[in-house]
Amino acid sequence: MKKKINSKKQKASHSQWSSRGVFLLAAIGSAVGLGNIWKFPYIVGENGGGAFVLVYLFCIVLVGVPVLIAEIALGKSVQSNPVSTFSTLAMACKASRFWALFGYVGIVSGFLILSFYSVVAGWSLEYLQVFIQNDLLGSDARAIEQYFTQLLASPNTLLLWHSVFMLLTVAIVARGIRKGIEKIIIWSMPILFVILVILVLYATQLEGFSKAFDYLFVADFSKLTTDGVLIALGHSFFTLSLGMGAMMVYGSYLQKDTPVVKLSFIIAIADTLVALMAGLAIFPLIFTYGLESTSGPSLLFISLPNALLSLPFGQFFGIAFFFLLLIAALSSAISILEPVVSFIQQKTRLSRHFVTYLIGSIVWLIGVGALLAFNDWSDVHLLGQRNIFDSLDYVTTSILLPLGGLGVSIFAVWVVSKQPNTRQLLGISDSKYPIWRISAGIIAPIVIGVIAWHGLN
Ligand code: TRP
Repeated sequence: MKKKINSKKQKASHSQWSSRGVFLLAAIGSAVGLGNIWKFPYIVGENGGGAFVLVYLFCIVLVGVPVLIAEIALGKSVQSNPVSTFSTLAMACKASRFWALFGYVGIVSGFLILSFYSVVAGWSLEYLQVFIQNDLLGSDARAIEQYFTQLLASPNTLLLWHSVFMLLTVAIVARGIRKGIEKIIIWSMPILFVILVILVLYATQLEGFSKAFDYLFVADFSKLTTDGVLIALGHSFFTLSLGMGAMMVYGSYLQKDTPVVKLSFIIAIADTLVALMAGLAIFPLIFTYGLESTSGPSLLFISLPNALLSLPFGQFFGIAFFFLLLIAALSSAISILEPVVSFIQQKTRLSRHFVTYLIGSIVWLIGVGALLAFNDWSDVHLLGQRNIFDSLDYVTTSILLPLGGLGVSIFAVWVVSKQPNTRQLLGISDSKYPIWRISAGIIAPIVIGVIAWHGLN
């Protein structure tokens, strides 16, 4: 009987995770994505290795964690969508209603990020299929490179995989937190971890492992540029899913007595471990076969398949790898869509299904523009010399996310935590409060300001 009453109550109000552990898996699932497995290794490669990794780690601790704490705490305190989290708290603090603009910035970022994220996730679907069918067997390095170039040149293939990926994402989000997101996260995150451990163990057996280890963990500061520092800063944001309300909305499904600081640290540590492990799985392969570690975005789609195909059980490890990439991307994509759906659904009161499919279609359409940037529309320039894909990436990663993060951290520290009653809502314990205040209220805004300034220049 009691259970019945509880579940009725739950329905009427905002949903909640079925446990703290599930929240952790979902938040880690959001953080761990293409950013860790595709982007991190290639930006390490482009920026010279160990010194870059060290700067990145500093950024995670100094900026990432304090902002992550702020985002989850804000979400948890009001238990609503990002826009109304800002407006409700602003009202309670008698601050300007304009703070809600940051919520809107997040919603817009969500549309834009997911559109190009889905296109890249689509590449992992293509390569999963390639390894399952062993299509590249016997190809030489040139042929493997051409395969990727060909893929980018074929709008139809890109469109197919982009559509499949968006459909998967929408189908999960449409089912809601408990029936959709939780059901997927519970099995996909453990599998992801197991696959990654197997891949790293395998890499330890290769000749190139010790070189890869030194490459990642021995800092040679002569290789670090100012650009590299700024890339590390920007990436610490992207990889922790900050600045658009994803962590806020996941936090809003938490119970009020959840310890935010501890959970934020666990999320950041898990995310960082996965990125480093991805590096330890990929670079030994690259070095063993004397391939380029500096090849940029194509590291995972040209250099890696090249190395895998020369190995015993390469096909098996290729399937494992691209499956890993797919589930990592999917659990992140879900979290990009969720804040948008939660906002529009609460605003319009339309059914969750309808809202999710509607938003999914709009995101899909923007994504079509992004994928055409690699072929038919490569001459279309939106911002400066950037094509549609690069413009979407630039506007979000360099402008909107830092802006959103700035809003979150300043709002949490300088507005919400100013008043005792709203400060209490954040649920940050007294012992941790002063350090958090300085890092989220002073250090993070300064650092974010620098990234944004650089992004605009
Ligand atoms: N963190 C994810 C990754 O590393 C991407 C992501 C998910 C994201 N949700 C986000 C990035 C919200 C920015 C904002 O791939």
